[in-house]
Amino acid sequence: MPNPGTAGALPTDSLEVNRAVIELDCIRLSYSYPAIKGSPAKPVFQNVGIKVYKNELVAIVGPTGAGKSTLLRCLGGFIRANEGHVYLHGQEVLRPSSKLVLIHQSIATFPWMTALDNVKLALTCKKIDEGEAARIAGETLDRVGLGSNKSSYPKELSGGMRQKVAIARAFAASPSILLMDEPFVHLDEISATEMRREIHSLVFNPENTLDGVVLVSHNLNEVVELADRVYVMNGSPATVVDEFRIDLPRPRAWRDSSFLLDVDHLLNDLGTPKTQS
Ligand SMILES: Nc1ncnc2c1ncn2[C@@H]1O[C@H](COP(=O)(O)OP(=O)(O)OP(=O)(O)O)[C@@H](O)[C@H]1O
Ligand SMILES: [Mg+2]
Repeated sequence: MPNPGTAGALPTDSLEVNRAVIELDCIRLSYSYPAIKGSPAKPVFQNVGIKVYKNELVAIVGPTGAGKSTLLRCLGGFIRANEGHVYLHGQEVLRPSSKLVLIHQSIATFPWMTALDNVKLALTCKKIDEGEAARIAGETLDRVGLGSNKSSYPKELSGGMRQKVAIARAFAASPSILLMDEPFVHLDEISATEMRREIHSLVFNPENTLDGVVLVSHNLNEVVELADRVYVMNGSPATVVDEFRIDLPRPRAWRDSSFLLDVDHLLNDLGTPKTQS
């Protein structure tokens, strides 16, 4: 229940010192129409609680259809839970805002615009002049390592570079939370490996405004390489069946025995045979 007098704010007993930057407390989420007319819509997930603390990269894993993309859309304010709430810095999220940006698996750049113009798009809703928008977009491209590609069109860039343009556009809006839905799945393996190596320092670069990242991925190696904590969703309707902390030092090597043990832990949660004998 919202605190009386502070509409949409968290209840005071939740104001712990180490409060989550974003949290979702979802009792039930269904899409509005039922599979069979007249029957109640089956929930996609229920009783799901997700918290992201300052500077955390939290991953969500689960089988296809478990509702991971739906959960990201809910965190981003694009859809609302039937019962439940999302709070960003203690304020209820009721609609999308520039504080919450979503990067999709499809690499979304506009082919007729230069890298700079693609990034400037994120600033169109902010009341700033053209010169200032170009300066911010240019600085953001510098930060992701594309400073010398500002005038390039997407077709002149590699898949990894195009995804970096999409990431730069997300950063340019000065978000608080970055939501990433299988962001490397359409990259070739070499580009994906490079992006995974770079993403942690990119997102937690002190020049960014980001407080936290939520990553959805089917790639458990990617999850163990990048995440601080993992929520595992499973079942139908899905619930959170495990919350798992990855305590390995960085950089993390996929072949280390401790790395493989964590991958096995997640495989076990998902009911999949283990990688090791
Ligand atoms: N816009 C929508 N309208 C109605 N049902 C939807 C909509 N989007 C998703 N669903 C349904 O909600 C369930 C969860 O879908 P969602 O895309 O969130 O799963 P997911 O875990 O992201 O799957 P994947 O791993 O395949 O991406 C599925 O049964 C899907 O058919
Ligand atoms: Mg999905």
